[in-house]
Amino acid sequence: MQVHNNVIAITGGAQGLGLAIAEHLAQQGAKLALIDLNAGQLEAASAKLADYQTEIRIYAANVADEAQVEQTFNQIQQDFGQLHALINNAGITRDGMFIKAKDGVVSQKMSLSQWQSVIDVNLTGTFLCGREAACKMIENAQPGCIINISSISRAGNIGQTNYSASKAGVAAMTVTWAKELARFGIRSVAIAPGFIGTDMVLSMKPEALSKIEGMIPAGRLGTPQEIAHTVAYLLENDYMNGRVIEMDGGLRL
Ligand SMILES: NC(=O)c1ccc[n+]([C@@H]2O[C@H](COP(=O)([O-])OP(=O)(O)OC[C@H]3O[C@@H](n4cnc5c(N)ncnc54)[C@H](O)[C@@H]3O)[C@@H](O)[C@H]2O)c1
Repeated sequence: MQVHNNVIAITGGAQGLGLAIAEHLAQQGAKLALIDLNAGQLEAASAKLADYQTEIRIYAANVADEAQVEQTFNQIQQDFGQLHALINNAGITRDGMFIKAKDGVVSQKMSLSQWQSVIDVNLTGTFLCGREAACKMIENAQPGCIINISSISRAGNIGQTNYSASKAGVAAMTVTWAKELARFGIRSVAIAPGFIGTDMVLSMKPEALSKIEGMIPAGRLGTPQEIAHTVAYLLENDYMNGRVIEMDGGLRL
């Protein structure tokens, strides 16, 4: 699939990886629909990308809300008349130990709301946006591509019961969609980033961050631009399907 002139929706497009992906694709002339919960950040992202000679529209929506997602993709269809690709990127962390205990006394456990909030955004949000994007591609009789952002943590990671489960689910949905949607000419692939220099990671405690950097064989965090580069490659390579690409500098949990 070519990037130039094609319509690409990006969830969580207002900052971090989503914004870096948007900038990289805008440079190549893609038409962009940026979806994010944060309306103020979306406006700022739109202003930042204004110099690129391409159409960029913003949509404030919660990816975990079915009605909002349906309405947003209907609006994108109406505004652009097409949808060629979706980057399913919106995600959150609410880290904490599954159980904290000392001497047989449980002092804390991961709350249901801590679990549910991450599952709602990362797993249900990816499901809803992927579903609506695929519906539009099929109704338009248009081949397409869905790229889901999973994580190195999908293998299981301390303090991330909720996040790891959500990202393992995202990887499994990617393979399922590749198998189900191939008959409509729709590909589905995922990227599993390691530690990338966005707010999500840079807001960690400095000691924890430098410990992680020391464990990465590449010797540094990844950059959002390196993830954006991989997104463009996955869009352009029509034989890439149903796989999770690890972008972790050699660090594999
Ligand atoms: N940064 C990393 O190192 C890293 C590593 C592995 C995976 N990831 C994944 O990459 C994706 C992007 O991460 P990031 O580092 O850019 O995070 P970020 O926090 O910088 O940006 C996330 C964006 O998603 C938006 N968002 C959050 N909840 C939303 C919702 N319910 N509906 C719509 N938008 C919502 C936020 O407003 C924000 O703009 C996430 O799925 C994350 O899990 C990041």
